[in-house]
Amino acid sequence: MNSTKFENQWNAELYDSKHSYISELATDLVELLSPKPGEYILDLGCGTGHLTHKIASKGAAVIGIDSAPTMIEQACQNYRQLDFTVVDARNLPFTEKFDAVFSNAVLHWIQEAEEVVVGINRALKPGGRFVAEFGGKGNVKAIVSAIYNAVQTAGYPADAALNPWYFPSIAEYGSLLEKHGLQLTFATLFERPTLLEDGEQGMQNWLKMFANSFFSELSLENQMSILADIENQLRPALYKDGNWFADYRRIRVIAMKV
Ligand code: BEZ
Repeated sequence: MNSTKFENQWNAELYDSKHSYISELATDLVELLSPKPGEYILDLGCGTGHLTHKIASKGAAVIGIDSAPTMIEQACQNYRQLDFTVVDARNLPFTEKFDAVFSNAVLHWIQEAEEVVVGINRALKPGGRFVAEFGGKGNVKAIVSAIYNAVQTAGYPADAALNPWYFPSIAEYGSLLEKHGLQLTFATLFERPTLLEDGEQGMQNWLKMFANSFFSELSLENQMSILADIENQLRPALYKDGNWFADYRRIRVIAMKV
């Protein structure tokens, strides 16, 4: 382990062991996708492959892609019978190949949303569907605000460039889809307070895994005091009966290629 920095952001083992709720909470998203035997489906941002497997279990053919080689390695180990490959979602290399493109909890990591949407549209067969869930406008608002407060209290500037996330409104994302030939047929934005695993450690685990970009250039000592400050700020709102909750707010969309 690196002694001066937090763990790699995409530590697949940690992702599987401490953040399994990510795929567990999306089971009904697979129901919204409604995969059928004979269909070919792209799982965009498959992580360690659990939802790819769920889609395959409905009888569809599926390929899982992710930009992180560590995730793809773990997905291949988890499900040897399935197809996984490393691909950058900003540069999808597929043309009219899929009946559906599915994506859970990944599109909020990609600021270049337009490049992704163009690639999804190109990858779909005419009449194909795009079904996705990710962080929407206002997602983790309390956490982001506590991070910036703590960073500033420690004497650093609140640098917006360190924020890696894209959390669009329905209107913003719907317009983007329609601009690129994907007709929005369903959209919702909803609160999903999410239990973080590991009791008292839950918020620190989450921050180290997902919010690493805000702190990675700071000394270990400063990182530790900033994390403690963030926890203190969030405890009244997001800690209850020995557990931490993240103030997730999700956007779900279905769009058809016209
Ligand atoms: C989310 O799933 O909403 C999320 C995960 C990590 C960082 C930010 C948001």
